[in-house]
Amino acid sequence: MPQQVLIVDDTEINLILFGALVKKLDDCRAQVFDDSRKALAWVTDNVPDLIIVDYMMPDLDGLEFIRLVRDMPGHKLVPILMITANDQKEIRYRALDLGANDFLTKPIDKVEFLARARNMLSLNQARKHMADHASWLSGEVRKATQEIVKRERETVYRLAKAAEYRDPETGAHILRMANYSMLIARELGLSVDDQQLILEAAPMHDIGKVGIADSILLKPGRLTAQEFDVMKQHAMFGYELLHGSSSKLLQAAAEIAKGHHEKFDGSGYPNGIKGEAIPIFSRIVAVADVFDALTSERPYKKAWEVETAVDFLNLGAGSHFDPACVKAFLNAWDDVELVRNKYQEDPLQAIEL
Ligand code: C2E
Ligand code: SIN
Ligand code: SIN
Ligand code: FE
Ligand code: FE
Repeated sequence: MPQQVLIVDDTEINLILFGALVKKLDDCRAQVFDDSRKALAWVTDNVPDLIIVDYMMPDLDGLEFIRLVRDMPGHKLVPILMITANDQKEIRYRALDLGANDFLTKPIDKVEFLARARNMLSLNQARKHMADHASWLSGEVRKATQEIVKRERETVYRLAKAAEYRDPETGAHILRMANYSMLIARELGLSVDDQQLILEAAPMHDIGKVGIADSILLKPGRLTAQEFDVMKQHAMFGYELLHGSSSKLLQAAAEIAKGHHEKFDGSGYPNGIKGEAIPIFSRIVAVADVFDALTSERPYKKAWEVETAVDFLNLGAGSHFDPACVKAFLNAWDDVELVRNKYQEDPLQAIEL
C-alpha cells in the first residue's frame, strides 16, 4: 500500500507543485484539496500518513483544521506539517499547541519540502511498526499465558488420574464432587474466580491416598482403628505433595487436601480445628466429598439412597459440617441432580483438558 499524503491549500499553483513533489517520494500518493471543508470530510474517513496544510485559507483556516483533525478518533499521531509565511511566529506557536509537528515556509523550497516530508513519513512508519509490534507482542503474551494455564490444568488432571490407578473410586466421582463444590461456592456467593478455582482444585483432595498401602486402601471391608489411623494420613500426604507452589491452583488444592476431613465441631483430622478456622474451601469440599462418597459404592460399603445421604448432611450440619455449606448445597439441588446425571460412568473422556 502506498503511503498517503493529504495536501490542503487553496492556491491552485501550490497544489500542482506539491503534487509533483510528492511523486518524487518513494511509494507515495498525494490526495489534494483546494477546499479545507472537503479535505476535512475526507480525513474523517481516512487516516493519511502525512498531512500538509496551508495556514491562510478562507472559511476554515489551517489552525482550525488541525484542531478538528486532532479531535478525530485515530488521528492523534498523524504527522502534520503546516505552511506559514516567514513572519508568522505567533501562528506557529498556536499551531504547535494544537498539534502541528513541523512547518514549511513560503515560498516553498523543493529540497526542504522533500527532506521534511521524507523525515515525517519515515518517523510515522517506524511508529506504526512499533505499535504493530507491541500489539503482536501482547497477543503472543496472552497466548503463552493461556497455554501455561491450559498445561497447569492438564498436569493437575493427570495427577488426579494417577491417584485413580490406585484408588478404587472412579474419575466420575472426582468430577461430581468438584462440581458439587463449585455449586456450593456459587450459592455462598464466592467470586466467579473462586468458583472456578475450587472446581479445578477439589479433584486433588484425596491425592494423598497414593501414599497409603493397598492392603488398607483397597480393603474390601471395614478398617480397624489402626488401619483407619494410617488412612487418616492421606490428608497430610496430599498437603505435603501439593504445598509450597507459586501456583494459586496448587495452593488451593494443598489447603483442600489438608482440611477436607476437619469437622465443624473440631472432632475431625488431621488438626482438629473447628468452625471458621477451617478454610472455607475445605468446609465446602467436606460436604461435597461426603455426599458423593455416601451415594457411591465403595469396596467397604454399598451406595446410600440420596434421601438417606441428605438426612446425613442435615444431621451433621453444625457438628460435622458447616451448616451454611449444607444449606448452600441443598439450595442448589436442581443443579446437583444435573451433575449426578451428567457424570455417571467412566469419565476420562469427560475431562476437558
Ligand atoms: P471416601 O470413601 O472418599 O470417604 C470420604 C468420607 O465420606 C469419609 O471420610 C466419611 O466422612 C464419609 N463416608 C464415606 N462412606 C461413609 C459411610 O459409609 N458412613 C459414614 N458415616 N460416612 C462415610 P473418612 O471417614 O475420613 O474416610 C476417609 C477415607 O478412608 C475414605 O474416603 C475411604 O477411602 C477410607 N475409608 C474409611 N472407612 C473405610 C472402611 O471402613 N473401609 C475401607 N476400605 N476404607 C475406608
Ligand atoms: C479420588 O478418587 O481421589 C477422590 C474422589 C472422592 O473422594 O470422591
Ligand atoms: C468411617 O469409617 O468413619 C467412615 C466409613 C464408614 O463409616 O463406613
Ligand atoms: Fe479424603
Ligand atoms: Fe474423598
